[in-house]
Amino acid sequence: MSLIAASVLVTVPAAHAAETADAAAEADSQCPWVGSDAPVEQRIDQLLSRMRLDEKLDLVHGSAMPFQFVGPTYAGMISENPRLCIPQLGLSDGPAGVGNGHTGVTQLPSPMALAASWDAELASRYGATIAREARGKGADVVLGPTIDLLRDPRAGRSFETLGEDPHLTGELAAAQVGGIQGEGALAQSKHIAAYNQETLRNLPANDSIVDERTLQEVYLSPVRDVVDAGTASVMCGYNRLNGVHACNNTYLLSQVLKGQFGFDGFVTSDWFATQASHAAANAGMDLQMPGGCHYGPRLRHGINSGAVTTARLDDMVSRILRPMFRFGLFERDGNGSPDDAVTGPEHAAVAREVAEKGMTLLKNGDGMLPLGGETGSIAVIGEAAGERVIGSGGGSPHVIAPEIVTPFEGIAERAREAGAEVSFDDGSQAGEAAGAADVAVVVARQWSTESKDNKDIRLSEKDNEMIAKAAAANENTVVVLNTAGPVEMPWLDEVAGVVAAWYPGQEYGDALASVLYGDADPGGRLPATFPVSQADLPAASPDRFPGGAYDEGLAVGYRWYDREDIEPLFPFGHGLSYTTFEYSGLEVRGDGGPDTTVTARVTNTGSRAGSEVAQLYVTHPESAGEPPKRLEGFQRVELEPGESARVRFALDERSLAHWDADADRWVRGEGDYTLSVGGSSRDLPLTGDVAVAETAPVSEPTPAPPPGAPEGDDPAWTKIGNVARCPAESLYAGMIGAISLFGLPPGEQATRPPRSPADDG
Ligand code: NOJ
Repeated sequence: MSLIAASVLVTVPAAHAAETADAAAEADSQCPWVGSDAPVEQRIDQLLSRMRLDEKLDLVHGSAMPFQFVGPTYAGMISENPRLCIPQLGLSDGPAGVGNGHTGVTQLPSPMALAASWDAELASRYGATIAREARGKGADVVLGPTIDLLRDPRAGRSFETLGEDPHLTGELAAAQVGGIQGEGALAQSKHIAAYNQETLRNLPANDSIVDERTLQEVYLSPVRDVVDAGTASVMCGYNRLNGVHACNNTYLLSQVLKGQFGFDGFVTSDWFATQASHAAANAGMDLQMPGGCHYGPRLRHGINSGAVTTARLDDMVSRILRPMFRFGLFERDGNGSPDDAVTGPEHAAVAREVAEKGMTLLKNGDGMLPLGGETGSIAVIGEAAGERVIGSGGGSPHVIAPEIVTPFEGIAERAREAGAEVSFDDGSQAGEAAGAADVAVVVARQWSTESKDNKDIRLSEKDNEMIAKAAAANENTVVVLNTAGPVEMPWLDEVAGVVAAWYPGQEYGDALASVLYGDADPGGRLPATFPVSQADLPAASPDRFPGGAYDEGLAVGYRWYDREDIEPLFPFGHGLSYTTFEYSGLEVRGDGGPDTTVTARVTNTGSRAGSEVAQLYVTHPESAGEPPKRLEGFQRVELEPGESARVRFALDERSLAHWDADADRWVRGEGDYTLSVGGSSRDLPLTGDVAVAETAPVSEPTPAPPPGAPEGDDPAWTKIGNVARCPAESLYAGMIGAISLFGLPPGEQATRPPRSPADDG
């Protein structure tokens, strides 16, 4: 178990089954809000009116500190209250499947792999799979989806993001929220806001300095999407935002999230990110995790002294109770138990589908893929094809598979059916092995984990050399990248093919084999730009990353490469199919408002069935000050040879709008907008336009701060007092930051550890 996983585990208090049943039976008659048909708000009021101060305080903080290793574990817990029939609430990681060291769960591909599928319906099933397993383990809240953007691919949690674009992230995260909550679990979307690095996290030096327009248009845009999708909860992050800790940030939590976006659920602090009591409560944070010094004794003091009003405490409690009532938690007989195995063939099938649809074919020289009957022998090369396979990244998104189908195992089995011979080499004899086969499949890896940023986006020297040697010996060399996200490819011109497999979960090898053999069309399209060199990254300079100056502004991801006119290695949205597509017949209907639609025809002009992701980008009039283009729609289509489909993109209020910082609201500016459609951000054969007749606001201004809310951070002496009064939590808070300097050992990938084919003889 990794230290970070360990650091967030808490023990579920032993179930006092008999006592609880008695208390519950007695309480039943006294708890008219249970099983009631009354509106939720009425049930909340009824319950609130019966709660004592200590019971309210118990509900707004976690009930267990970490490092209690006995018994079943979740990341966080709120204890039950038998007197008032309030059930226990278990919070479980995370965004890529059930984590926290649990076994018997499905290791899904990473969120980055999911994002590469550009498939909202699949994202919903991904969320549903996680929720079923979390509930099967007895938890109620899924700590996901992750909605932080990939600002810089060196970020340790890059694999956990849904890529670099706010629209793609927002759509997929919203679909995931729908999937999670459709299964009766509460989604906790995380982390707000502008939490994009691990270096020095949770320490004062980790301060994201972001201008308001960039914050609204880029980093808060997916937040609004998950709120619109009904996320029950939101987690505030470890970073400071413009000098104020995210979990104490009135602008972020009260003015934007709850005011502007209308969020009526609860805000939870990331684990040990609560560093204040009164200021955090007044700024809008509702639930402290995982312990309760700040929101227990310290908040009681705040209530007694009048520093925090009872009305605000009631609001915090109501926000937690609201989804608990909405999701029927009071009426539930209970979920499963932490010891139950919750994975199964249906969930494995989702993992396989995501892996296949996310696998992105970046290069296919001379159409060497798919492999066919003429391939008599394949050399599979690299330790990452065997025992060093990565199914899941590290930290709280880490999931332990029952077992992982390694690339070697998957390819060997499929090749056997095709009558081809397969050999293995760990990379030490890459040239010889490649030279002796018809085709070489070379698998390279790059490890990434929560808690530590990567220093670069380069493969190891060893892996680069292995690839170069294989390529020199065999012109049919295909590189498979088992990486968190973008990496440099100094050998690109020498190899015939490149497949980005990401962290593809437990079904990796089978998914890879079906893509290499063309049983499945490589479904992926890049959710993140691959630069030629790390120096081209939008936040390449150290004052930006990890320095925290977000002065690349709106130019995140492809917007940067477009604005600065930098040729990427592979552009955002790129990905090859085994067939070809043609775009035609663009039609734009509407005046640029939310009823505007853009349609186009996509035709499969090749001889195989295949999938395409049609993408819509908007270019604003120059006066708007936007980067050259923004993704505003996408649609995945599967087409038989010769078949056509009409793709349709519906614009919304924000599609043609920008944030006007003077007016504090979204505005659609007068002028001509270009609408471009095609198969990647740099391949847009169709263009149309729409003229907006006059400038008009399209949202209300951000509301003013609520009375009593702090305007900035606590003064230094209050902070010192906060640290001193909650010493244990302050120690953990500091450790979260200190760990970012050293990193953590990787957790185990699978209960049955992946084996090197060499060990099998
Ligand atoms: C810290 C991580 O930042 C967060 O994403 C996770 O849910 C919590 N720990 C609980 O494990």
